[in-house]
Amino acid sequence: MSKRFYITTAIDYVNGQPHLGHAYEKIITDVIARAHRALGEEVFFLTGLDEHGQKVQQAAAAMGKEPQAYCDELAEDWRRFVDKLGLSNDEFIRTTQPRHKQWVQTVLNRLHAQGDFYLKEYRGFYSVKEETFLTEKDRRPDGSFDPAWGDVIELTEQNYYFRLGRHQPWLIDHIEANPDFIAPDYRRNEVLGFLKNNVLEDLCITRPVSRLNWGIPLPFDPNYVTYVWFDALSNYASLPGALGDPLVVQTLGLPHPPTGPELWPADIHVIGKDIIKFHAVYWPIMLKAMGLPLPKQVLVHGWWQKDGAKLSKSTGNIVDPVAVIDEWGLDAFRYYLVRELAIGPDGNWTDAGFSSRYHAELANGLGNLLNRTLNMVKRYRQGAVPQPHAELAPEANAVLDKLTTLLRHNELQEGLITIWSLVNRANQYIDQTAPFKLAKDPAQSTRLDQVLYNLLECCRVLAVLLSPYLPTTASRIFAQLNLGPVPHLLTEARWGKLPPGHKVGEPTPLFPRKDQPSK
Ligand code: MSP
Repeated sequence: MSKRFYITTAIDYVNGQPHLGHAYEKIITDVIARAHRALGEEVFFLTGLDEHGQKVQQAAAAMGKEPQAYCDELAEDWRRFVDKLGLSNDEFIRTTQPRHKQWVQTVLNRLHAQGDFYLKEYRGFYSVKEETFLTEKDRRPDGSFDPAWGDVIELTEQNYYFRLGRHQPWLIDHIEANPDFIAPDYRRNEVLGFLKNNVLEDLCITRPVSRLNWGIPLPFDPNYVTYVWFDALSNYASLPGALGDPLVVQTLGLPHPPTGPELWPADIHVIGKDIIKFHAVYWPIMLKAMGLPLPKQVLVHGWWQKDGAKLSKSTGNIVDPVAVIDEWGLDAFRYYLVRELAIGPDGNWTDAGFSSRYHAELANGLGNLLNRTLNMVKRYRQGAVPQPHAELAPEANAVLDKLTTLLRHNELQEGLITIWSLVNRANQYIDQTAPFKLAKDPAQSTRLDQVLYNLLECCRVLAVLLSPYLPTTASRIFAQLNLGPVPHLLTEARWGKLPPGHKVGEPTPLFPRKDQPSK
């Protein structure tokens, strides 16, 4: 066995409602996972839920439920959401699973034995909402705290702290020596700027049971549970450990047979811009202390807004992914999210923009190309594929090559733009060659064969190229071409694989128009 390409999403807070931001992160991760499979790699894609902490404890209590029962119910909604998005994840981790909790305790014991932790009394301010200690630096000039922190209380308590100081120099060196470790580069510069201009404060890794008991018990002190971020970040390595990844099992001396898939180190952690510090500072330090190698990349995406304003349930400024998928179809939703926004900057959802891309690019662009092509082949050639011809081969092969490079660099939006250059070229080719005119002239019969072959082969090529992005659409195109399952490898998009004489299937609109009354 060999090391798999291992990719993860952040794990979502179980008590939040699945929204556009969660959908986006999962979909771009799914596209990257599918792309790497199509590039011939063995892939492992992990997503899941972050279930401990004060917010969950309080929400469960408010509903008169035990926290575990409360999480179990919500976890079902999240699993349904994952299905709705058509994700190709290999596992779904929940931080309340014994396999995860045992791992966190093993790590805590190890780090404690190494002397990484110490007990200290803290007196000061604390944000209950964010479960974070605040310092004087967090105060505004008038002494108050930003309302984003919610209720800020003053408390005095003893906790365990993780010594971070000795890690700061090597982490800076690592980020400087590995330019891909944090992407895009402006995020990397942000982290470097922070690390170079601040002395890292030690990380509080516990909460007293008296205040919070919904957490993983500290194995060496029953008065504490583990800080939720220490617990949550661990998921990325606890799952490989639980499956028996030899490196993780051996490094941590776990009791499992070291016969599982080779996953660690992760190739990409996909996260949003708000949680960079946890992934690019705390997580690498935790791993170094455990003796595990660092992930190869933390890939940071931006945040979505709607109509230029923050998504917010209270103001009603939301996009409900499930409602959009029910109305427009899953692939239309996946298409818009990836086409509209590159991985990095913030994005802005507008219903008008969605409808416009749907009609112009999906219905008129791709859908029409397939529909017109199949109709002409049926009408002029009784549905049979003509002799191969390669007029559009150079352009199609160039798109395949360019897409292959873009996918290796997670340039998903550019990839779609590149694929659409072929959609547009093929539609333009219909207009230029005018097969409906050729069909009227028997002397042009060979030319008509050539044109139809080029169009059909373009449709086949496009389906293969699109499969990481729009897997359902790719299958539907193959079904209409009467070609069986879409091949797994992107190289199958190389020109000329459509066999002459093959009978195509029935055309049905891929993306029905929604801006005209139906007939
Ligand atoms: N539980 C933590 C992550 C722990 S990872 C070890 C968490 N959960 S979350 O549910 O609040 O967010 C999950 C992911 O969704 C994060 O990467 C976050 O950046 C992303 N998004 C939340 N709102 C978003 C948008 N409006 N737009 C895009 N992504 C957003 O943080």
